Amino acid sequence: METSIKTERLYIRNFEIKDAEGLFAYLSQPRVNCFMDEQLRTLEEAVADVERRGDDDLQYAVCLKKEDSIIGNVFAMKEEPDTYSVGWHFNEQYQGKGYASEAARAFLDFLFTNKGARRIYAYVEENNIRSQKLCERLDMRNEGLFIDFISFIKNSDGTPKYENTFIYAILKKDWELCGMFNVQFSKHGEVPSEAHTLLDTINTNKTRRDYEHRDNPYAKL
Ligand SMILES: CC(C)(COP(=O)(O)OP(=O)(O)OC[C@H]1O[C@@H](n2cnc3c(N)ncnc32)[C@H](O)[C@@H]1OP(=O)(O)O)[C@@H](O)C(=O)NCCC(=O)NCCS
Repeated sequence: METSIKTERLYIRNFEIKDAEGLFAYLSQPRVNCFMDEQLRTLEEAVADVERRGDDDLQYAVCLKKEDSIIGNVFAMKEEPDTYSVGWHFNEQYQGKGYASEAARAFLDFLFTNKGARRIYAYVEENNIRSQKLCERLDMRNEGLFIDFISFIKNSDGTPKYENTFIYAILKKDWELCGMFNVQFSKHGEVPSEAHTLLDTINTNKTRRDYEHRDNPYAKL
């Protein structure tokens, strides 16, 4: 089934053949180890790759609305019955403009609303600060750090290089609660007192310092 999600600046849709060049632009040189196995060496490989992604209803191209040109992608994998792991990958040229947050927020909302997600989680390597910040902007909870969790590349001696990896997650009930508070914040410009307790409950293992760089008005308290 064809999917298209519109946000203020973006169009999130199934992959099309015309995305091959744009995908090649950033997957020819993946910036993080976890995408090394997706590396594309030629445009022909990129064409085959977008064809494969186009058949997968949990793989989406993120495009600038005006031009319908791909700037990144978001994806999910379902774990029956109602858990999804998610990921994102954007062309560096479009980094630092809030596009990834805008796309990921709409994507999570789509998974909760249209795909029956109850729990959504993401693995993020310990050194991937940008992706950690993105998870926090999405109100995902840092549930812990796995030590020497996974290996995407090898050390110079050929042994696997293991990475420490965080897990971030959010439940549908918390997503709805955060959405409700965000509406309240923007409507009234002040934080209802009960929000303190509830947000602290949601983010049980966060410290106040963790909130400092978030867009949420709660951060300003
Ligand atoms: C992870 C990744 C998607 C994050 O991208 P990003 O552009 O930093 O994320 P956001 O969309 O949340 O952008 C936030 C930044 O845009 C800025 N910004 C500018 N205009 C903005 C706007 N209109 N709205 C919101 N933020 C805006 C924010 O201030 C913030 O800047 P900061 O990082 O200096 O604090 C990107 O770095 C990436 O694709 N990396 C490679 C792949 C990867 O690591 N994937 C995850 C594997 S776990």
